[in-house]
Parts: sequence; C-alpha cells; structure tokens
Amino acid sequence: MLANFVQATYIVAGVLFIFALAGLAKFETSKRGNAFGILGMVLAVGATITAVWAPESWRGADWADQMPSFVGKGGVVPLVLLIVAMLIGAVIGLFKATRVEMTGMPQLIAQLHSFVGLAAVLIGLNVFIETRQELLAGHQIESVGFHLAEIWIGVFIGAVTFTGSIVAWGKLAEKISSKPLTLPGRNWINLITGVGIIASGVWFQNSHSWFPLIVLTLLSLFLGFHLVAAIGGADMPVVISMLNSYSGFAAAFSGFALGMNVLIITGALVGASGAILSYIMCKAMNRSFISVILGGFGTTAAATSEGPAGEIQEVKADELASWLADARSVMITPGYGMAVAQAQYPVAELTKRLTEAGVQVRFAIHPVAGRLPGHMNVLLAEARVPYDIVYEMDEVNDEFDETDVVLVIGANDTVNPTAMEPGTPISGMPVLHVWEAKKVVVFKRSMKPGYAGVENPLFFLDNTYMLFGDAKASVDSINSALPAAEARPAIGA
Ligand code: TAP
Repeated sequence: MLANFVQATYIVAGVLFIFALAGLAKFETSKRGNAFGILGMVLAVGATITAVWAPESWRGADWADQMPSFVGKGGVVPLVLLIVAMLIGAVIGLFKATRVEMTGMPQLIAQLHSFVGLAAVLIGLNVFIETRQELLAGHQIESVGFHLAEIWIGVFIGAVTFTGSIVAWGKLAEKISSKPLTLPGRNWINLITGVGIIASGVWFQNSHSWFPLIVLTLLSLFLGFHLVAAIGGADMPVVISMLNSYSGFAAAFSGFALGMNVLIITGALVGASGAILSYIMCKAMNRSFISVILGGFGTTAAATSEGPAGEIQEVKADELASWLADARSVMITPGYGMAVAQAQYPVAELTKRLTEAGVQVRFAIHPVAGRLPGHMNVLLAEARVPYDIVYEMDEVNDEFDETDVVLVIGANDTVNPTAMEPGTPISGMPVLHVWEAKKVVVFKRSMKPGYAGVENPLFFLDNTYMLFGDAKASVDSINSALPAAEARPAIGA
C-alpha cells in the first residue's frame, strides 16, 4: 500500500515536471511553470524521504518489488543521513543562487551539471557494488545484461558530463584559457577513446568485473575533458546547453539503474529539452549540431582582428533624445552589454516615456543575443517591458527599413553585417538588419569587437552614430534630456 503511494507520488511529480516545462515555454506562464516544478520536486523528495525512513511494519509484501534499490531497511539513521546531505546541498545552493549575476549564469549552470555527472558516476559504481555482491552470492538477477548496460552507459555519460562541465566552467570563468586545445590528431584521439569505451563496456558486460568499469570511467573522464577543451570559448554557451542535455540522460540512466521512475522521467525531460535547445542555438549561430556533439567545432575560422577602418560619427545623449522625441518608430536591439551594464531598467523607462509620447517602440531580439538563451527576454521582463512589443528577430527583420531610429544597446556580433560574407567566425549567422534603418545609434564603451572578435563595419556607415559610454549611464542621460513631449496621435491614426 505504502509502495503504491510512493510510486503514485512519483508519477504525479513527473506530470508536474511536464507542466513546468510547458509553463516555462512562455513568459506569461513562466512563474506558474516554476511553481509546478517546485511542487513536483517537493513531492518527489517527500516521497523519497518517506520511502527511506518507513519502518518495516509499514511496508507491505510488495515493497521490495516496487521500491528503488537504494531504499534500505528504513529507520532513523538513513533518514538523518539523507536530511544532513540535503541541508548541506541546500545551503550551498542558496549561497550560490542568491549571489549569481545573470551574466554569470552559464558558469553556475556548468558547475551544477558537473554535480549531476559526478552523481551519475557514483550511482553507477554503487549499484554495481550491490549487483556484484548478488552475482557472487549466486543469486539470479532478472535481465542482468540490460542492468549492466544501464550501469555502464550511465557511468559513461556521467563521467563525460562531469569533466566536460568542469572544463566549460573553467573557460567561462576564465580560470583556464578559452582557446581551443588542438592536440595533433585530436579526432583520432577521440575515435580511439570512443572505441576503448565501447570495448570496455562489452568486456564489463561479459566479465561482470571491476577492471573494465574502472577503465571505462577513466576513458570517459578523459573524453569529456578532451571534447570540451577542443572548443573555443566563443561557442561555450552551446556546449553548456549540450552538457545540460547529457546531464539529463545521465540522470535518466541512473534512474534505470536504480529502478526509480521519477528520475527516468526527469532525466529524459532534461535530456530532450537540452538537446532541442542546443539544436535551436546551433541553428541560430549557423553551427553544425553534429560537430557540437563531437566537440569538433570552434576551430574553423579564426577570429579576425583586422577589419574595416574609417571615419565614425558620434552623437551625444541630448541630441539623440531630440531625435527620439521626433521619431515615429524606434527599434531597440539589446545585447550582452545591456546585461553587463544592467541598463534594462532605464531602457524600460525610456520605452515607457517614448510610448506615452506616441512613438512606436519595439524590441528586436536576436536568438543568441547575450550569453544564454532568452537572456534578453528575461532582463526585459524583469524591468517590466510589455511582452507584446518584444519581437523575435524573424518577426521584425524586414521592418528596419521603415524604422526611424534603431538603438543598438550593447550588441555587436548580432548586428554585424560581416556575418553575411564568408570567411569569419560568424559567417552564416543570421543577423539583425539594423543598417537598413534611417539612423542607427550604437551604445558601447569603445571600438572593441564583440564576443566573436570580428570587427564591425556597421560602425563606419553613413547612417550610424556611436554613443560611447556605459549603456546604463547613456540611457539615463537620454531619459534626463528627453523633453516632456506631449502625446501625439497614435501611429496610423
Ligand atoms: P557581443 O557581440 O558580445 O557584444 C557586446 C557589446 O557590448 C560589446 O561590443 C561591448 O563593447 C559592449 N559592452 C560591454 N559592456 C558594456 C557596457 N557596460 N556598456 C555599453 N556597452 C557595453 O554581444 P551580442 O551582440 O549580444 O552577441 C552575443 C554573442 O555571444 C554572439 O557572438 C553569440 O554568438 C555569442 N553567444 C551567445 C549565445 C546565447 S545563447 N546568447 C550562445 C553562444 C554564443 P565595449 O567593450 O566597447 O563596451
């Protein structure tokens, strides 16, 4: 009876996780999605605590068949151990989460994935301790081959995720060089390591012994390190999303090894959604999905430091304020610099004032603006910019020629026309056609190139004006200089 209750709670938690993902797909429902996720996790943890603690007298005859293999004899000792472990995890998690900046999220996510990978490796090794004891005692294990495959595949994906995530974190946090590590014959190294991993898996499957499992673990740890080390820092956010997917599949295989439905469901959801996200990001950056999985990209074209030179035109905040007050339509294209400067709040204020004055203000969001998917949308939502004026790139890319002023706030690669020509690291990446507008104003602090290290000819065009300085300070100055304009008739009225 209690076993049925625990299993039913796991199923309900799994359904809530699906609702959570559905809710998180749209800004309007994202808070609700989060609430579903939290509730699902509370139920899953509650059911697991109950299972670990439940004394013998509460357990029915069907207990052993229905419960995950880690549930022991019950009682206070495992309960205390579990709660102590959870408390340590919760304190570290709270400490990290309350201090992280939005721009530091990719690093934090990489760290968290490394924990999932390590957990999957430890679970696999632990499950094998039990399995081996059973086998040595001569007990029959149902579908033993399948069970051993669950163990080694879980260990393999977990180990790759563990070292890969540590290297990704190191590159993003600038603890190690972000340059791609290009060992001679690196594709051969990957191939031979991969063959070694499969061979160890087959050997493990047949011998039921520790040695091949240890070899497989070490080879997988090396493969994770080498795959990610070979990728340049500029492509690291895609790798993070890929590792997110790997961590989900590692958790799913741990769920199979433990016989725990909720872990299988959650892992599969994370694995599949991470893979879809990586695919979307690759498409937006014109990268090959397969080369990302194989850790082979980021080394194609080197960043160019030489680029177009010429005269630039500068504009000051008060002059720009008068252009904006006179404009009919304004498009804002935010980028990483807006996030660093935390300029989203004055940008929201500017939007509100211009809209009240009858100017049509819209936002054009490039799919990889910033450093993680949806980065700009989250910042704008946080500053309470209405959702209905925030557009995806494809929705408004044809409308720049009807726009009076484009404000490029802390964006660079995503508005670089060089992407439309061959031979650079961003070639082929779709970009926002800001240069088609009547006037383009670029907010940045210097003439430095963007993330990909490619010079931007946009800055030298006749209709482009540079507004140098920190983006937040610049937008604040515009807000102060903006005349208290009287509302004009709505566009099209
Ligand atoms: P970037 O190309 O990185 O350009 C950001 C610009 O902001 C820089 O030119 C910088 O110039 C300026 N900036 C920095 N701090 C500033 C501040 N405080 N005030 C004003 N300006 C400031 O940004 P982007 O256009 O958003 O492009 C994103 C890049 O990240 C792309 O290369 C993309 O491929 C890559 N990427 C993104 C993702 C996702 S999912 N978002 C994933 C993978 C890769 P100054 O230093 O001169 O100020």
